[in-house]
Amino acid sequence: MRILHIVATPRGEQSHTLRIAQEFIDTVVERNGDVEVDVLDLYRHDLPAMAGDNIEAKYTLMVGRPIDRGHAESWREIESLIEDFTSADAYVVTAPMWNFGIPYALKYYIDCVVQPGYLFRYDETGSVVPMVTGKKMVCVTSRGGDYSPGGFMHALDFQEPYLRTVFGFVGITDVAFINAQPMDVTPDLRAAALTAALAQARELGGSFLPQAGALV
Ligand SMILES: Cc1cc2nc3c(=O)[nH]c(=O)nc-3n(C[C@H](O)[C@H](O)[C@H](O)COP(=O)(O)O)c2cc1C
Repeated sequence: MRILHIVATPRGEQSHTLRIAQEFIDTVVERNGDVEVDVLDLYRHDLPAMAGDNIEAKYTLMVGRPIDRGHAESWREIESLIEDFTSADAYVVTAPMWNFGIPYALKYYIDCVVQPGYLFRYDETGSVVPMVTGKKMVCVTSRGGDYSPGGFMHALDFQEPYLRTVFGFVGITDVAFINAQPMDVTPDLRAAALTAALAQARELGGSFLPQAGALV
């Protein structure tokens, strides 16, 4: 069982989002002996360009033609990133809210891996066929403000709906969110948000994967 942990915060050990995600992962690993966790740290990883040869290759694929030989070498970097994504059994996405959405490094990664013929395809009627099925995802976010349902900021949360949309589009529909909020209003509110998110991370982590040896 391989979990891909996609980290989209540049703040390393200072990151509250990462601390909560780590609590989740530690719980999963504690409960399940047979788990390998690979970390893809997007702020320390050179992503291939989604321009030049690769944008030409993408548009060739979009019209159902094979990639030209001249673009193939560059496209292999995209394929290797895609292979790393599709070979995972489950995903953890660590992303603070940036300007109501996701940090640019995560958007860049999504632009690289969400490719026709690899993560989704169109059938003969033009309908989308998702190609990444049967996999679970947990998205851990933290936000300076509070975007909880029922609150006046909720309508401004473009982060959770976007992540549900793009990963749902490729077939990942079993997605849970741990949203720590508000983190930047007062120290007391931050402490309470962190405590609640860490508890949710332990709870979700305890049941994320079937436990080793369990009868299912
Ligand atoms: C570039 C940038 C943009 C941000 N935009 C928002 C925002 O739109 N809404 C919000 O509530 N907080 C925003 N924040 C605050 C972060 O979401 C918040 O501090 C979060 O807890 C940071 O997570 P981290 O500790 O993992 O870096 C922003 C922070 C940065 C650095």
